[in-house]
Amino acid sequence: MNFLSPAPLRALRLTGICAAAALSLLAQAGVSGFWVYRAPTGDGNFRDTYFELTQSGASVGGTFYSGTRQIPVTEGSFKDGKLRFVVNLGNENIARPMVYEGTLANGKIDMTAQAPSGNRPPTTGVAEHARREAMLPPARLPLPELHQVPDNGLVRTPPMGWNSWNLFAGKVDDRTVREIADAMISSGMREAGYVYVNIDDTWEAPQRDVRGNIGTNSKFPNMKALADYVHSKGLKIGIYSSPGPKTCAEYEGSYGHEVQDAQTFAAWGIDYLKYDWCSASQIYKDEDMQAVYQKMGDALLKTGRPIVYSLCQYGRADVWKWGAKVGGNCWRTTGDIGDRWQSMDNIGFHQIEIAPYAKSGHFNDPDMLEIGNGGMNGDEYRTHLSLWSLLAAPLLAGNDLRNMTAEIKSILMNREVIAIDQDPAVNPVRQVSQEGKAVVLARRLKDNSLAVGLFNRGDQAATVAVKWEALGAGGKKMQVRDLWRHQPVEASGGGYSASVPAHGVVLVRVAAQ
Ligand code: GLA
Repeated sequence: MNFLSPAPLRALRLTGICAAAALSLLAQAGVSGFWVYRAPTGDGNFRDTYFELTQSGASVGGTFYSGTRQIPVTEGSFKDGKLRFVVNLGNENIARPMVYEGTLANGKIDMTAQAPSGNRPPTTGVAEHARREAMLPPARLPLPELHQVPDNGLVRTPPMGWNSWNLFAGKVDDRTVREIADAMISSGMREAGYVYVNIDDTWEAPQRDVRGNIGTNSKFPNMKALADYVHSKGLKIGIYSSPGPKTCAEYEGSYGHEVQDAQTFAAWGIDYLKYDWCSASQIYKDEDMQAVYQKMGDALLKTGRPIVYSLCQYGRADVWKWGAKVGGNCWRTTGDIGDRWQSMDNIGFHQIEIAPYAKSGHFNDPDMLEIGNGGMNGDEYRTHLSLWSLLAAPLLAGNDLRNMTAEIKSILMNREVIAIDQDPAVNPVRQVSQEGKAVVLARRLKDNSLAVGLFNRGDQAATVAVKWEALGAGGKKMQVRDLWRHQPVEASGGGYSASVPAHGVVLVRVAAQ
């Protein structure tokens, strides 16, 4: 360390400042100040985290900045060049402590961040002094006047395909996407209707080129070549971006480059864009969302390439009321799904009221499928597909298509259930009845038959029943087909009733005889 070069040492002696004061100056130089911790993501990007530390003796306090949140350092120490501090990244309900540890040398801290209880691997990186402004979002850009974006005419029935996020998250790469495209064909998924192979977050390069063009990182050496490959299989390819400066995984977003990025996507041969709010919240308010999304809606249309436009802002600001107006083909209606019964059940059964907002070409999107990811059982996954199909939701598989059990294949590729999802009439589902944990949902199909789901949301098997009268078909003789057993079933007593396993469904198609 060369903190005290001979000249200042001489000055100290000359001015008579005692050694203790000099040492205290040194100690102050310790870790106090504003820092950025840069952890490499392994693909050329870095994840930046900002924090401010105040050191007093060996004790360290301060503030940690996570998006718009300011989180106090709960404990911290700096001794013999070693720093350790803890912040709680959770909330009042769930504690999520993160421990930062490192060694200060030459004004930098080689650091590790680790969640003691989490299953996430630790990150390692380097913390350096930074200017506070570095973490501030860029200035707000003006937004366009609202107008109706012309319908792009795509996806007259809900889009079907695959998306990388639920299973692969930051690990998606060129090779995985190619293999998934291959598996889409070999497994029979394409024949069953799944055509979009969608790359979610973490494909982006850390910096734009000198002309401001967005690029890919080391996981995706050539996006155009990848798109060509996917197209050569008779499939379509999707990509992901954000109207904010950063995506949710903190990669490069499209802020201020909307038109340019739309052109780039079109030049690569992209057929689908998921546009995720994320850091746009640092610049815009919820009431600006319509104009923000319209900007990209217009930009996509201007490219002249047919690109499905998928809005992702977690169902805020009643997006179902304006999603179609800004050019959206679908819009997320909820936060992120998890591969757990509670998550899927809670999302799925909260979509009924907004069902009438879905129209041909413009769909509510309760998030991607978790079928086959291992966190739910077969009955629960059958409920997942049945419910999403009754809702006319996009069917984007989120599992590893290269490696599916016979049961998962039989669920994802159940053509009779898919036909409900893809029914061209796009009539809204309605709740016919709810008794305790037994819920009956129905949707009228184009051929005038009815898709009826007898759901058991409870933890024990139960009998769930529906009367024809409640379906507006009282007094009629109806024929019933079970869409999971693939066979006609007997109905009697002016309705149909079935034993339904815990968290399961019996999905039938009912038609007048
Ligand atoms: C948000 C979205 C997810 C996924 C991630 C990617 O959480 O809701 O679907 O796209 O961002 O970072």
